[in-house]
Amino acid sequence: MSPLADRYGRRFPYLRLSVIPACNFRCTYCLPQGYHANPNAAQALTLDEIARLLRGFTVMGMHKLRITGGEPSVRHDLTYILRTAAAVPGVTKLAMTTNGSLLTRRLHEWMDAGLNAINVSVDSLDRAKFARITGHDRLDDILHGVDLALDAQMPSVKLNAVLLRDVNDNELPAWLEYLRERRVGVRFIELMQTGDNLPFFRDHHVRATALETQLLEGGWQALARVADAGPAREYRHPDYAGRIGIIAPYSKDFCSGCNRLRVTATGDLRLCLFGDFGIPLRQFLQADDQIEDLVHAIGRQIDRKEQGHFLHEGRTGITPHLASTGG
Ligand code: GTP
Ligand code: 5AD
Ligand code: SF4
Repeated sequence: MSPLADRYGRRFPYLRLSVIPACNFRCTYCLPQGYHANPNAAQALTLDEIARLLRGFTVMGMHKLRITGGEPSVRHDLTYILRTAAAVPGVTKLAMTTNGSLLTRRLHEWMDAGLNAINVSVDSLDRAKFARITGHDRLDDILHGVDLALDAQMPSVKLNAVLLRDVNDNELPAWLEYLRERRVGVRFIELMQTGDNLPFFRDHHVRATALETQLLEGGWQALARVADAGPAREYRHPDYAGRIGIIAPYSKDFCSGCNRLRVTATGDLRLCLFGDFGIPLRQFLQADDQIEDLVHAIGRQIDRKEQGHFLHEGRTGITPHLASTGG
């Protein structure tokens, strides 16, 4: 068995599987014109292909799986995907990242299928700003869905807010009020440069350093990094039920905490969010007895994983937007 570890000593117990590149939102930093399907694009992996892929990764030591998109709930068989994933021996954490548009309607169905962690994108707590950023006036319904997940004792509930200069970079007071009683983690994410968002990036990218200073001044304490924690830096405060995380991909040590691999909706292995072409695995997902070939193919590629991304050099690689890679 080749374990999921690379030549820089990083381990990858965490797989992010995109199940569809399409999205129903139009976030200004990601898909401002909405998602346009390429009629020649290959179909997304089937349930059988997904089951084989996951068996291969779990044999190699993966135990945390995150379902991503585009927006995963655009896929009509999402509940079956969750059930399929939950049934793979070794998958102990089954997470999903969603824009929350179907949360109020499907939460219980997804939890019954085995979902035990959810990250919801909430870029602003101001209804009008949220509508401007995402193209959809859905903030209240999505926040209601988040409260339902908390009431249902979902073991992990996190929110993601991408920091945008002059748009939502002054909302800390509103977030603090939100976090006072809710056992939820909000992560502020620095905007990443992609092939499609260059002018937007120039206007709106802001580092999270000022925000971190505000947190420390307000009595928030940085948590010690645990092994396999991933790249987010986490803070907590005795007066607040919630936690705050910072995802700062432009900070210097970001990639040393990398603990994840990605597979695209059509079965390409991506070693990094940025910079590499996908390595097709689909050919190894056609029959149950291909698992050894699959494991070998994955093992051969891990050694090619680079030490870091090249966002620092201002290059965007081949990533047009993060919906194409599952974020
Ligand atoms: P947890 O599993 O709860 O820690 O969540 P996560 O941060 O792994 O997942 P999520 O889907 O909520 O992603 C949050 C943000 O982090 C998104 O903007 C991602 O694009 C970004 N992100 C996740 N992984 C990477 C990575 O490997 N490199 C970079 N640069 N950004 C990443
Ligand atoms: N920079 C930072 N975060 C991004 N996301 C999508 N595009 C970008 C970008 N260019 C975030 C979404 C979602 C997560 C999966 O990725 O807001 O929370
Ligand atoms: Fe859709 Fe997520 Fe991109 Fe927004 S950031 S357009 S919700 S894929």
